[in-house]
Amino acid sequence: MLKGKNIVLGVTGGIAAYKACDIASRLVKMGADVHVIMTKSACEFVTPLTFKTLTNNKVYTSVFDENDVGVPHIDLAQGADVLLVAPATANFIGKAANGIADDMLTSTVLAASNKKIIISPAMNSHMYENPAVQENIKTLISRGFVVIKPDSGRLACGDTGIGKLPDSADIVERVAMEVAFEKCLLGKRVLITAGATQEAIDPVRYITNHSTGKMGYALARVAKAKGAHVTLITGKTSLKAPLGVDVVEIVSAKDMFREVTERYFDTDIVIKAAAVADFKPKNVSDQKTKKENAKLSVELEKTEDILAYLGQKKAHQVLVGFCMETENLLENAEKKLKSKNLDMICANSLTTPGAGFGVDTNVLTLIEKDGTKTALPMDTKENLAAVILEKLAQIN
Ligand SMILES: Cc1cc2nc3c(=O)[nH]c(=O)nc-3n(C[C@H](O)[C@H](O)[C@H](O)COP(=O)(O)O)c2cc1C
Repeated sequence: MLKGKNIVLGVTGGIAAYKACDIASRLVKMGADVHVIMTKSACEFVTPLTFKTLTNNKVYTSVFDENDVGVPHIDLAQGADVLLVAPATANFIGKAANGIADDMLTSTVLAASNKKIIISPAMNSHMYENPAVQENIKTLISRGFVVIKPDSGRLACGDTGIGKLPDSADIVERVAMEVAFEKCLLGKRVLITAGATQEAIDPVRYITNHSTGKMGYALARVAKAKGAHVTLITGKTSLKAPLGVDVVEIVSAKDMFREVTERYFDTDIVIKAAAVADFKPKNVSDQKTKKENAKLSVELEKTEDILAYLGQKKAHQVLVGFCMETENLLENAEKKLKSKNLDMICANSLTTPGAGFGVDTNVLTLIEKDGTKTALPMDTKENLAAVILEKLAQIN
């Protein structure tokens, strides 16, 4: 997701400096070229060698290094797609807010006034809540810095309160959201459904399917990164809610119908990536069915066809469906596109390696209303989501 992106990672002298190693590693794994600058205090907590090994790049700890060519603090600042300072100490924040440039990191940050700068403050809660720190954070926000709010919880000093560095995965996701994608969906309201529904048989048993929600969650994350206001309506999953997305949890196909149709008219783009049950038990027992009295058959009835309903009621919305088949994929997908009045259908075959349930990749063929077919080779669900959303931005 960050392939080819140049990221300057500033590490300051807080106890959470050790977590910056994981952040650096994750950014590198996502394809970024990461250049680490450490303050003198940061070197008290972790060593430059760790970052050098993780990033395969020189680690900067001083403005003055005889071996450097050019003017590193200017070159690093101007070569960066984004600067991330994590963790950011109270001291660093104070210096950045007041234009102080007395080491390599603060000099580089000052030289990056035309760049996106993200900081992730982490410190004791009394330090964080100190009006001086809060004023400095406000100043930085007013100058365009993106400030990631610290988490609350047990702090390293033993206190409990706000000030923890958020999970590395969340910080990295935030960076990706800021830089990885063209903001082609700014101002758009996008509704995405994900995951499987559960149709109760009795209070302890239900019918479901293998959908894990990964494709829908990837679409939601990328749509948000592209600037959309995103609502994700999701069946139960083990996935973490994407940052900045409104998440509505549902259980059954009936819940899904209610939540989607309630929002339909205020939405520009609807992508139905959920695996909604086609059938549900006709009679749901109030009590657990005992083994001894079980009939050993469950009578089913059809659930409401949400996509067909949305297709019938379509006004200004762009409507997209997913189609997973085990045979006659394109034929079935085209039929569904027409019969449900869709603008696009994303077809995948359960039998193709690297596609389908639970995996991080997919293989999709996109079929548009005018018959245009785009076969996308195996790729991450995020990258495929980006292609789908770019096409939809053009249609809408
Ligand atoms: C064990 C220890 C932990 C510290 N943790 C933090 C911290 O989490 N956040 C913070 O703002 N300062 C923390 N400090 C204080 C900073 O190290 C100190 O303010 C230093 O001047 C920061 O320098 P820098 O901003 O140039 O990295 C800690 C100090 C010590 C000794």
